[in-house]
Amino acid sequence: ASQRAERKAHAAALLKAHNAVLVAHYYVDGDLQDLALETGGCVADSLEMARFGRDHASQTLVVAGVRFMGESAKILSPGKRVLMPDLDATCSLDLGCPPDDFAAFCDVHPDRQVVVYANTSAAVKARADWMVTSSCALAIVKHLKDQGQKIIWAPDRHLGGYIQKETGADMLLWNGACIVHDEFRATELELLKAEHPDAMVLVHPESPEAVVKLADVIGSTSQMLSAVINGKASEYIVATDNLIMHRMRQLAPGKTLIEAPTAGNSATCKSCAHCPWMAMNGLDGVIACLEQGQGEIHVEPALGLQAKRCIDRMLDFVA
Ligand code: 13P
Ligand code: SF4
Repeated sequence: ASQRAERKAHAAALLKAHNAVLVAHYYVDGDLQDLALETGGCVADSLEMARFGRDHASQTLVVAGVRFMGESAKILSPGKRVLMPDLDATCSLDLGCPPDDFAAFCDVHPDRQVVVYANTSAAVKARADWMVTSSCALAIVKHLKDQGQKIIWAPDRHLGGYIQKETGADMLLWNGACIVHDEFRATELELLKAEHPDAMVLVHPESPEAVVKLADVIGSTSQMLSAVINGKASEYIVATDNLIMHRMRQLAPGKTLIEAPTAGNSATCKSCAHCPWMAMNGLDGVIACLEQGQGEIHVEPALGLQAKRCIDRMLDFVA
């Protein structure tokens, strides 16, 4: 433990020496979340991370999360240096939406507004009219539907299907999924609910439809955190990456948190409800990127400029 504390203090000193700020997601290692908050950075959902990085005066951002989060930060602030603890930290949604295939799909449907989830590459964003995150996707698609627009949605099919149902919008869905949320199981969740009849069920909308149907609250990571802080229940069943519980425990210490069941709650998978790419972020990576300048995100400037339009449109919408 003392070695960890030493490395954390070392990382904090490096952030200070480099005038850098740490922008972390709720799914990363608890030490990194604490370090971010103790050094003036943030722990947030993907929308808030993008906004925080853009608005912070610091010229070096260390983004602890997955690659699309670092890319979005760089696209929004091309003049800043954006570092990541591990550049190989990707996302199954990003991997499942290759830019060329996506562009070909869009070409066949030129009459549709192209709405892409934040969890995509810069090249996919460059092809989009709108970027959305889980915290604002519903409101933005509703807005487009009210304008009479038809939509192409990519890449998460569960989130897209949920929004389609809620809004009644005409949406063509890309067939992508998050390997973490796709593992939550409705039958087992129903059994768990029966054991905890007063528990409030919180579900991230990247989960399968049958799981989302059992939710009391459906929302982004920040919205799930608010639900625990403000909810009247004493027990909460949480269907998202289990590292969010680190922050939930800190901000709602009296509440009982229960992990939602996954298909992998068996011998085949020790910790299915934790993203393997988020898990690549650690104190050592933060230290290495600041000490050695490794892990820098580069986005080709013309591509970045093109991709920035759909992010700005979302940020203006939610402002
Ligand atoms: P949030 O925008 O809700 O933080 O989600 C990001 C993500 O990758 C969820 O798996
Ligand atoms: Fe991507 Fe899922 Fe990991 Fe989030 S949890 S970064 S959506 S693979």
